[in-house]
Amino acid sequence: MVDLSTEYVGLKLKNPFLAAAAGITGSMSMLQKAEESGIAAVVLKSYFQKSICRISPAPHFALLKSGHGKIRAASLYSYEQASERDLAGYARLVADAKAKLSIPVIASVNCFTEQGWREAAQAVEAAGADAVELNLSCPHGVHLMSGMDLVTELAKATAFVRSLVSIPIVPKLTPQVSSPLALAVAVEKQGASGMVCFNRFTGLEIDLESFRPIMHGGYAGHGGPWSIYYNLRWLSQIAPAVKIPISASGGVWTGADAAKYLLAGATTVQLCSVIVAEGYGAVCRISRELEAYLERKGFANLTQFRGKLGKIKTMEEVDRTQEIVAAVEPEKCTGCGLCRRVCIYDAVRLDSGKARIFSCHGCGLCREVCPANAISFASLGERS
Ligand SMILES: Cc1cc2nc3c(=O)[nH]c(=O)nc-3n(C[C@H](O)[C@H](O)[C@H](O)COP(=O)(O)O)c2cc1C
Repeated sequence: MVDLSTEYVGLKLKNPFLAAAAGITGSMSMLQKAEESGIAAVVLKSYFQKSICRISPAPHFALLKSGHGKIRAASLYSYEQASERDLAGYARLVADAKAKLSIPVIASVNCFTEQGWREAAQAVEAAGADAVELNLSCPHGVHLMSGMDLVTELAKATAFVRSLVSIPIVPKLTPQVSSPLALAVAVEKQGASGMVCFNRFTGLEIDLESFRPIMHGGYAGHGGPWSIYYNLRWLSQIAPAVKIPISASGGVWTGADAAKYLLAGATTVQLCSVIVAEGYGAVCRISRELEAYLERKGFANLTQFRGKLGKIKTMEEVDRTQEIVAAVEPEKCTGCGLCRRVCIYDAVRLDSGKARIFSCHGCGLCREVCPANAISFASLGERS
């Protein structure tokens, strides 16, 4: 049995999984479902100072499918902004959640004036929140939409809220700045207890019949399993540069995804779109997948595993010796010609219904697309 328990911003958690701020944590009934799923903590759907954001237009979800054939990437595209509650109602939900749940309850607030931050931070602390996320990173929130300097704004808000409350404060970063690392370093310096890396991206999808944006004429949030690669890249740079814990968010749909974030140094992992798509049953599946993986790799707990990502090489350190070429196993090759179509080096010929490879540059794409798994790598010397 692997021990999945962990500690995050002073909270003891039975596993590293948090339900992220979204409609999935917007009401008491959803929060109860979250607890029943086995999740370790909940982050409540954000309270927004800007009241117009509390009314989501209908519809506010679309599933975008891009690419064709086998190469597809689904995006959950959404215009769901804030909790529909005003501050008093939000504080009541925090208090209710604290009374009815046994897992930690993290509030999430998005404000744009000092008075707004003061009122919101103090209200959620008084209501019993175990921590508060500072969400200036909403993809269609005030800060990103009006082009504010997010490094300055988030650092300022962090310092200000730090001076007001004693519960842990956790700024949620956007991945949409030229250096999320600078953002992370800035919030740590201003007294953040931890940070969430990251919120979703702001996107635009266009209806080709009407020439209009599909989501009520505006930009919308988008994310999906594809977003993990960008986030992992930044997490691998941020984790070694800060001392405070990181909650990874973005594109976690499997236990393997969670394992990658933990390897890159995350303390906890937040789940959102996968719960929107699959329901809270996803938590048990993902948790089991992570546990099975850790067991197979011989880890007894998360401390042994966390941050074990190998060194990221510089351009200069990457080995560029050309030793690998593609080799076809003729008995497996069906002669479909897919390898020939994708080869940008013109290195594949079809010979008596079988692929043959000449002057290969070892790019590896033919191996990726071969439906018969007939292509493998061989060292230059072994090529037939
Ligand atoms: C429909 C929807 C609503 C969201 N609402 C909020 C929110 O109120 N506050 C917030 O901080 N993040 C919000 N998020 C962002 C998520 O908390 C999460 O950080 C993001 O979706 C990335 O994780 P995922 O790839 O698992 O969805 C929302 C995401 C979605 C999909």
